[in-house]
Amino acid sequence: MVTIQPITPEFAAEVGDVDLARPLSPEDLAAIRTAFTRYAVLVFPDQTFDDEQQLAFARHFGPLETTVFKLRKENKLRLHENLADVSNLGNDGRILETDNRLRLYNLGNRLWHTDSSFKRLPAYCSMLHGRSIPPVGGQTEFADLRAAYDALDEGTKRRIAGLVAEHSLMTSRARLGFTDFDETERKAFEPVPQVVVRRLPDSGRMSLYLASHAGAIRGMPRAEAEALLKELIEHATQRQFVYSHRWRVNDLVMWDDRCTMHRGMAFDDQRYKRDMRRATVSDVAPTCEQMGLAVAAE
Ligand code: OGA
Ligand code: MN
Repeated sequence: MVTIQPITPEFAAEVGDVDLARPLSPEDLAAIRTAFTRYAVLVFPDQTFDDEQQLAFARHFGPLETTVFKLRKENKLRLHENLADVSNLGNDGRILETDNRLRLYNLGNRLWHTDSSFKRLPAYCSMLHGRSIPPVGGQTEFADLRAAYDALDEGTKRRIAGLVAEHSLMTSRARLGFTDFDETERKAFEPVPQVVVRRLPDSGRMSLYLASHAGAIRGMPRAEAEALLKELIEHATQRQFVYSHRWRVNDLVMWDDRCTMHRGMAFDDQRYKRDMRRATVSDVAPTCEQMGLAVAAE
């Protein structure tokens, strides 16, 4: 039977006594689901599976996303199309050079975000496997947006209830001055509406839903929206809401994209290889639909 070792009382836990490369018993899967609902970030140390086994584990939680790298014709995928390549490596296994487009694109992961909030049907959860880890730096930090919501004052809770933000991958990349998108990508990355506050059906808890992909809020001047989103992200990423994960080789970390943000920390990416592979599971419905909000098209 799996063991659950909390890292903090309500956020992040380590899961032991399980080999995710093998078929999971219904009891173990149920225990993992229960722990995931409570802790939102689960660390599974020492998982020596291959890509197919990682995908098979992820499929227990729902349908998998296809990597956005596939949108760009000239990109040749290093990994299976259901895996996001979060590494600093090219197809030849060598470190990407400083001006490589993929490297610059992936720098967006250094900003606080949640995966795929720029998709109308966003992500439910992500599973990231560490194959090669730099000896220093390269941690991943996670913020608990449920605890951050609970800690808001009542006035702010009232002010943000029912707000709808526009999320686009181009918005987060533009924050770093990255604008190199082709026509297909521009179309795929048009802004989509997402609630700012959501209720999680499994735990019943309320949560903020934030990301650097969000730039505008419906019915609010752009500058005011940016200011509000910045304040909310600053609030939600105070140290008391954050777990910082120092990777060991073969860690699998699974997080709830509905109620956490994360960011990758810097490391010497011209010196060390960091090979990370992510499977991402889609949520069941767009967030506005889940919250019962009818949202007009643009
Ligand atoms: C991701 C991500 C950050 C990191 O895999 O979605 O944002 O530390 N990763 O690599
Ligand atoms: Mn991410």
